[in-house]
Amino acid sequence: MFAFNFNKITMPIFYGKAALIDFLNSVKTSHSTIGFVPTMGALHQGHLSLMQQSLAENNTTVVSIFVNPTQFNNPEDLEKYPRTLEADTQKIADLDKNIIVYAPSVEDIYEGKTVSQEFDFDGLENQMEGKFRPGHFNGVGTIVKRLFEIVTPNNAYFGEKDFQQLQIVKKMVSKNQLAVNIIGCEIFREANGLAMSSRNERLSKIEREQAAMIYQTLLEAKEKFKTQSCEEVKNWVKEVFQSNSIFDLEYFEIADEATLLPCVEQSKNKNYRAFIAVFVNNIRLIDTISLK
Ligand code: PAF
Repeated sequence: MFAFNFNKITMPIFYGKAALIDFLNSVKTSHSTIGFVPTMGALHQGHLSLMQQSLAENNTTVVSIFVNPTQFNNPEDLEKYPRTLEADTQKIADLDKNIIVYAPSVEDIYEGKTVSQEFDFDGLENQMEGKFRPGHFNGVGTIVKRLFEIVTPNNAYFGEKDFQQLQIVKKMVSKNQLAVNIIGCEIFREANGLAMSSRNERLSKIEREQAAMIYQTLLEAKEKFKTQSCEEVKNWVKEVFQSNSIFDLEYFEIADEATLLPCVEQSKNKNYRAFIAVFVNNIRLIDTISLK
Protein backbone atom coordinates (compact mmCIF):
# COMPACT_ATOMS: atom_id res chain seq x y z
CA MET A 1 0.00 0.00 0.00
CA PHE A 2 1.31 3.41 -0.81
CA ALA A 3 -0.03 6.87 -0.50
CA PHE A 4 -0.21 9.26 -3.43
CA ASN A 5 -0.30 12.18 -1.20
CA PHE A 6 0.46 15.39 -2.93
CA ASN A 7 -1.64 16.82 -5.70
CA LYS A 8 -0.41 15.98 -9.17
CA ILE A 9 2.44 13.78 -7.87
CA THR A 10 1.79 10.13 -8.50
CA MET A 11 4.63 8.30 -6.89
CA PRO A 12 4.95 5.91 -4.00
CA ILE A 13 5.39 7.63 -0.64
CA PHE A 14 5.45 5.49 2.47
CA TYR A 15 4.98 6.97 5.92
CA GLY A 16 5.16 3.68 7.79
CA LYS A 17 7.81 0.95 7.69
CA ALA A 18 5.37 -2.00 7.63
CA ALA A 19 3.89 -1.01 4.26
CA LEU A 20 7.33 -0.17 2.86
CA ILE A 21 8.75 -3.55 3.90
CA ASP A 22 5.76 -5.37 2.33
CA PHE A 23 6.18 -3.40 -0.88
CA LEU A 24 9.94 -4.02 -1.10
CA ASN A 25 9.40 -7.73 -0.44
CA SER A 26 6.98 -7.80 -3.36
CA VAL A 27 9.46 -6.25 -5.82
CA LYS A 28 12.66 -7.99 -4.67
CA THR A 29 14.00 -10.90 -6.68
CA SER A 30 17.21 -12.88 -6.30
CA HIS A 31 18.76 -10.87 -9.18
CA SER A 32 17.48 -7.39 -8.40
CA THR A 33 19.17 -4.77 -6.26
CA ILE A 34 17.90 -2.00 -4.04
CA GLY A 35 19.79 1.28 -3.96
CA PHE A 36 19.22 3.56 -0.99
CA VAL A 37 19.78 7.27 -0.45
CA PRO A 38 19.17 8.32 3.15
CA THR A 39 18.47 12.05 3.55
CA MET A 40 17.10 14.55 6.02
CA GLY A 41 15.20 16.31 3.24
CA ALA A 42 15.63 19.92 2.07
CA LEU A 43 16.93 18.26 -1.05
CA HIS A 44 19.43 19.91 -3.36
CA GLN A 45 21.32 18.93 -6.47
CA GLY A 46 23.84 16.99 -4.40
CA HIS A 47 21.10 14.65 -3.10
CA LEU A 48 19.63 14.33 -6.59
CA SER A 49 23.02 13.27 -7.96
CA LEU A 50 23.14 10.45 -5.37
CA MET A 51 19.68 9.37 -6.52
CA GLN A 52 20.81 9.45 -10.16
CA GLN A 53 23.73 7.19 -9.34
CA SER A 54 21.46 4.81 -7.47
CA LEU A 55 18.96 4.76 -10.36
CA ALA A 56 21.77 3.93 -12.79
CA GLU A 57 23.11 1.09 -10.64
CA ASN A 58 19.99 -0.57 -9.16
CA ASN A 59 16.57 -1.90 -10.11
CA THR A 60 14.83 -0.10 -7.26
CA THR A 61 15.80 3.16 -5.57
CA VAL A 62 14.53 4.15 -2.14
CA VAL A 63 15.03 7.62 -0.67
CA SER A 64 14.33 8.29 2.98
CA ILE A 65 13.42 11.76 4.23
CA PHE A 66 13.73 11.95 7.99
CA VAL A 67 15.12 14.67 10.22
CA ASN A 68 16.71 12.42 12.80
CA PRO A 69 16.42 14.00 16.28
CA THR A 70 19.08 11.82 17.94
CA GLN A 71 21.92 13.18 15.80
CA PHE A 72 21.33 16.81 16.79
CA ASN A 73 23.28 17.93 19.84
CA ASN A 74 21.91 21.44 19.47
CA PRO A 75 18.10 21.71 19.95
CA GLU A 76 17.98 25.01 18.04
CA ASP A 77 19.66 23.40 15.03
CA LEU A 78 17.08 20.58 15.13
CA GLU A 79 14.20 23.04 15.40
CA LYS A 80 15.49 25.21 12.55
CA TYR A 81 16.40 22.35 10.24
CA PRO A 82 14.35 22.93 7.07
CA ARG A 83 11.40 20.58 6.61
CA THR A 84 10.16 20.79 3.03
CA LEU A 85 8.54 17.44 2.30
CA GLU A 86 6.21 18.64 -0.42
CA ALA A 87 8.97 20.43 -2.38
CA ASP A 88 11.30 17.46 -1.82
CA THR A 89 8.76 15.01 -3.17
CA GLN A 90 8.23 17.19 -6.21
CA LYS A 91 11.99 17.25 -6.91
CA ILE A 92 12.16 13.47 -6.64
CA ALA A 93 9.14 13.04 -8.91
CA ASP A 94 10.72 15.39 -11.46
CA LEU A 95 13.84 13.22 -11.42
CA ASP A 96 12.10 9.86 -11.63
CA LYS A 97 8.60 8.85 -10.56
CA ASN A 98 9.73 5.30 -9.85
CA ILE A 99 11.79 6.37 -6.85
CA ILE A 100 10.24 5.14 -3.64
CA VAL A 101 10.06 7.69 -0.85
CA TYR A 102 10.04 6.72 2.80
CA ALA A 103 9.11 9.67 5.01
CA PRO A 104 8.54 8.17 8.45
CA SER A 105 7.48 9.82 11.68
CA VAL A 106 9.75 9.80 14.74
CA GLU A 107 7.37 7.19 16.21
CA ASP A 108 7.68 4.90 13.19
CA ILE A 109 11.48 4.87 13.60
CA TYR A 110 11.98 5.04 17.36
CA GLU A 111 8.78 3.36 18.63
CA GLY A 112 8.52 5.53 21.74
CA LYS A 113 12.25 5.42 22.67
CA THR A 114 13.97 8.31 20.91
CA VAL A 115 17.47 7.48 22.06
CA SER A 116 20.72 6.53 20.37
CA GLN A 117 22.46 3.22 20.54
CA GLU A 118 26.10 3.45 21.77
CA PHE A 119 28.65 2.56 19.10
CA ASP A 120 32.38 1.98 19.06
CA PHE A 121 33.74 3.32 15.78
CA ASP A 122 37.38 2.63 16.72
CA GLY A 123 38.02 6.27 17.54
CA LEU A 124 36.73 7.74 14.25
CA GLU A 125 33.97 9.32 16.31
CA ASN A 126 36.36 11.26 18.57
CA GLN A 127 37.74 13.62 15.96
CA MET A 128 36.38 16.80 14.40
CA GLU A 129 32.56 16.58 14.16
CA GLY A 130 32.60 14.09 17.03
CA LYS A 131 34.52 16.53 19.26
CA PHE A 132 32.24 19.44 18.55
CA ARG A 133 28.93 17.58 18.33
CA PRO A 134 28.84 15.17 21.28
CA GLY A 135 26.62 12.15 20.60
CA HIS A 136 26.18 13.08 16.95
CA PHE A 137 27.70 9.92 15.49
CA ASN A 138 25.82 7.61 17.85
CA GLY A 139 22.68 9.26 16.46
CA VAL A 140 23.86 8.81 12.88
CA GLY A 141 24.85 5.18 13.50
CA THR A 142 21.49 4.49 15.13
CA ILE A 143 19.38 5.90 12.32
CA VAL A 144 21.46 4.51 9.46
CA LYS A 145 21.46 1.01 10.98
CA ARG A 146 17.69 1.24 11.59
CA LEU A 147 17.05 2.43 8.02
CA PHE A 148 19.25 -0.35 6.61
CA GLU A 149 17.21 -2.91 8.58
CA ILE A 150 13.99 -1.52 7.12
CA VAL A 151 15.09 -0.89 3.52
CA THR A 152 17.58 -3.81 3.25
CA PRO A 153 19.57 -2.06 0.50
CA ASN A 154 22.31 -3.71 -1.54
CA ASN A 155 23.95 -0.33 -2.16
CA ALA A 156 23.72 2.85 -0.11
CA TYR A 157 24.91 6.26 -1.32
CA PHE A 158 26.47 8.97 0.87
CA GLY A 159 27.97 12.31 -0.09
CA GLU A 160 31.66 12.88 0.60
CA LYS A 161 30.94 16.30 2.08
CA ASP A 162 30.27 14.40 5.29
CA PHE A 163 33.46 12.40 4.88
CA GLN A 164 33.71 11.53 8.58
CA GLN A 165 30.13 10.26 8.51
CA LEU A 166 30.96 8.19 5.43
CA GLN A 167 33.91 6.54 7.22
CA ILE A 168 31.80 5.96 10.32
CA VAL A 169 28.99 4.34 8.32
CA LYS A 170 31.56 2.07 6.62
CA LYS A 171 32.94 1.12 10.04
CA MET A 172 29.45 0.41 11.41
CA VAL A 173 28.68 -1.78 8.40
CA SER A 174 31.90 -3.77 8.70
CA LYS A 175 31.62 -4.21 12.50
CA ASN A 176 28.02 -5.39 12.23
CA GLN A 177 28.74 -7.44 9.08
CA LEU A 178 25.85 -5.82 7.22
CA ALA A 179 25.39 -6.91 3.62
CA VAL A 180 25.37 -3.45 2.06
CA ASN A 181 27.94 -1.64 -0.10
CA ILE A 182 28.60 1.90 1.05
CA ILE A 183 29.28 4.16 -1.89
CA GLY A 184 30.85 7.57 -1.34
CA CYS A 185 29.90 10.16 -3.96
CA GLU A 186 31.68 13.35 -4.98
CA ILE A 187 30.72 16.68 -3.42
CA PHE A 188 28.31 18.75 -5.46
CA ARG A 189 29.15 22.45 -5.41
CA GLU A 190 27.32 25.66 -6.23
CA ALA A 191 28.75 27.72 -9.12
CA ASN A 192 30.95 29.69 -6.69
CA GLY A 193 32.37 26.49 -5.13
CA LEU A 194 30.29 26.46 -1.94
CA ALA A 195 29.52 22.82 -1.07
CA MET A 196 25.82 22.13 -1.49
CA SER A 197 24.05 21.73 1.82
CA SER A 198 20.49 21.98 3.08
CA ARG A 199 21.81 24.61 5.50
CA ASN A 200 22.75 26.92 2.59
CA GLU A 201 19.04 27.75 2.33
CA ARG A 202 19.36 29.64 5.61
CA LEU A 203 22.11 31.92 4.28
CA SER A 204 21.22 35.32 2.84
CA LYS A 205 22.22 35.96 -0.78
CA ILE A 206 25.27 37.91 0.29
CA GLU A 207 26.31 35.35 2.92
CA ARG A 208 26.02 32.64 0.29
CA GLU A 209 28.42 34.57 -1.91
CA GLN A 210 30.83 35.24 0.96
CA ALA A 211 30.74 31.57 2.00
CA ALA A 212 32.47 30.72 -1.28
CA MET A 213 35.64 31.67 0.59
CA ILE A 214 35.46 28.36 2.49
CA TYR A 215 36.18 26.30 -0.61
CA GLN A 216 38.65 28.84 -2.00
CA THR A 217 40.61 28.56 1.26
CA LEU A 218 40.55 24.75 1.05
CA LEU A 219 41.93 24.92 -2.49
CA GLU A 220 44.73 27.24 -1.36
CA ALA A 221 45.44 25.03 1.65
CA LYS A 222 45.80 22.09 -0.74
CA GLU A 223 48.37 24.04 -2.74
CA LYS A 224 50.29 25.04 0.38
CA PHE A 225 50.27 21.46 1.67
CA LYS A 226 52.59 20.54 -1.23
CA THR A 227 55.42 22.57 0.30
CA GLN A 228 54.45 23.35 3.89
CA SER A 229 54.00 21.36 7.09
CA CYS A 230 50.58 20.43 8.49
CA GLU A 231 51.07 22.95 11.30
CA GLU A 232 51.95 25.78 8.92
CA VAL A 233 48.91 25.12 6.73
CA LYS A 234 46.60 24.90 9.75
CA ASN A 235 47.92 28.18 11.16
CA TRP A 236 47.54 29.89 7.82
CA VAL A 237 43.87 28.83 7.55
CA LYS A 238 43.18 30.00 11.11
CA GLU A 239 44.64 33.43 10.30
CA VAL A 240 42.57 33.71 7.12
CA PHE A 241 39.35 33.18 9.05
CA GLN A 242 40.37 35.29 12.05
CA SER A 243 40.83 38.26 9.75
CA ASN A 244 37.32 37.95 8.36
CA SER A 245 34.60 38.83 10.88
CA ILE A 246 31.66 37.22 9.09
CA PHE A 247 33.17 33.80 9.82
CA ASP A 248 33.60 32.00 13.09
CA LEU A 249 35.94 29.07 12.49
CA GLU A 250 35.11 26.05 14.65
CA TYR A 251 37.89 23.84 13.38
CA PHE A 252 40.24 23.30 10.50
CA GLU A 253 42.01 19.97 10.56
CA ILE A 254 44.28 17.94 8.33
CA ALA A 255 43.81 14.26 9.00
CA ASP A 256 44.65 10.82 7.72
CA GLU A 257 41.64 9.67 5.64
CA ALA A 258 41.71 6.15 7.09
CA THR A 259 42.00 6.85 10.82
CA LEU A 260 40.93 10.53 10.85
CA LEU A 261 43.82 11.16 13.24
CA PRO A 262 45.30 14.64 12.89
CA CYS A 263 48.41 15.00 10.76
CA VAL A 264 51.44 15.83 12.87
CA GLU A 265 54.14 15.17 10.33
CA GLN A 266 53.39 14.34 6.68
CA SER A 267 53.98 10.72 5.77
CA LYS A 268 54.14 9.52 2.16
CA ASN A 269 52.11 6.38 2.94
CA LYS A 270 49.02 8.24 4.06
CA ASN A 271 46.24 9.97 2.21
CA TYR A 272 45.47 13.27 3.84
CA ARG A 273 42.33 15.32 3.75
CA ALA A 274 41.46 18.77 5.05
CA PHE A 275 38.26 19.26 7.06
CA ILE A 276 36.61 22.50 8.05
CA ALA A 277 33.59 23.62 10.08
CA VAL A 278 32.75 27.29 10.11
CA PHE A 279 29.83 29.41 11.23
CA VAL A 280 28.43 32.09 8.99
CA ASN A 281 25.92 34.11 10.99
CA ASN A 282 25.26 31.14 13.32
CA ILE A 283 24.76 28.75 10.42
CA ARG A 284 27.23 25.90 10.61
CA LEU A 285 28.81 24.84 7.32
CA ILE A 286 31.28 22.02 6.75
CA ASP A 287 33.48 21.15 3.81
CA THR A 288 36.40 18.88 2.99
CA ILE A 289 39.00 18.34 0.31
CA SER A 290 41.40 15.53 -0.51
CA LEU A 291 44.99 16.74 -0.30
CA LYS A 292 46.28 14.06 -2.66
O1 PAF B 1 23.79 13.02 6.01
C1 PAF B 1 22.61 13.09 6.40
O2 PAF B 1 21.75 13.76 5.82
C2 PAF B 1 22.22 12.33 7.65
O3 PAF B 1 23.25 12.32 8.59
C3 PAF B 1 21.71 10.91 7.36
C4 PAF B 1 22.80 10.04 6.78
C5 PAF B 1 20.53 10.96 6.42
C6 PAF B 1 21.25 10.25 8.66
O4 PAF B 1 20.23 10.98 9.26
